Amino acid sequence: MDDILQIKDLRLEYPNGHAALKRVTFNAKKGEIIAIIGRSGAGKSTLLRCINGLEKPQAGSIRLDGEEIVGMEERQLTNLRRKVGFVWQEYNLIERLSVMSNVLTGRLSYNGRGKNLIGYFDRGHREIAIRNLERVNMLHRASYRADKISGGEKQRVSIARALSQEPTIILADEPVASLDPNLSAIIIGDLARVAREDGTLTIINIHQLDLAAKYVDRMIGLAQGVIVFDGTPAQLDDAAMDRIYNFDKISG
Ligand SMILES: Nc1ncnc2c1ncn2[C@@H]1O[C@H](COP(=O)(O)OP(=O)(O)OP(=O)(O)O)[C@@H](O)[C@H]1O
Ligand SMILES: [Mg+2]
Repeated sequence: MDDILQIKDLRLEYPNGHAALKRVTFNAKKGEIIAIIGRSGAGKSTLLRCINGLEKPQAGSIRLDGEEIVGMEERQLTNLRRKVGFVWQEYNLIERLSVMSNVLTGRLSYNGRGKNLIGYFDRGHREIAIRNLERVNMLHRASYRADKISGGEKQRVSIARALSQEPTIILADEPVASLDPNLSAIIIGDLARVAREDGTLTIINIHQLDLAAKYVDRMIGLAQGVIVFDGTPAQLDDAAMDRIYNFDKISG
């Protein structure tokens, strides 16, 4: 089928024995834009980190584009991460490099090691970087050092970098948690727009339900490491909200 991501019975325990994910199961299609919502500590970041191979689940399966991620060796994980665009709350740009150079890091895995060593990118790569900067309205900042631009601009650059990887999936962990409400709406809008244009499966951890409802196709609610809601924004009714946010009151 066209379920490009298939997660089944995923369990992740941290070394202290805390089970952050318990039998998490869901599939996602190419082009879907999904918000993961839930209280602090629900397991949202842990889930994204598992898909990126940064955490090692004890049980279950994650198949991305037909490849099993759980149990992958480091060398294979390096290959996997080429296909996974990650957008972090704290941007993770290389501050002393230009905006353009930061976006070009999204092309590193396509460029060849020798050229990377001397910082040379073929014209095709530079064109991809320029096009993606244009798409998030940041081309006018291409030559600025990354530490000289605002938070909202940094997040646009990080989106352009992720796009330049031509990823199979984009994972965004609270991409607008450091930004004001107006800017948050613009950035989530930008991310959703470019993801739709490319048909790239995108999963966004987000606390702002209004933004999620406006821009995503589907919401997955996590509570204490368990999926307690999976549906469209319109299906997120009071009962679902209670399951996601007030589970301790319900269970007593
Ligand atoms: N390295 C770790 N070692 C032990 N426990 C951890 C570790 N990282 C996270 N946890 C715990 O696992 C649970 C899930 O954490 P996670 O960061 O995935 O939550 P989250 O939903 O992303 O929360 P937030 O909304 O605050 O970002 C929490 O109870 C957290 O304290
Ligand atoms: Mg988190």
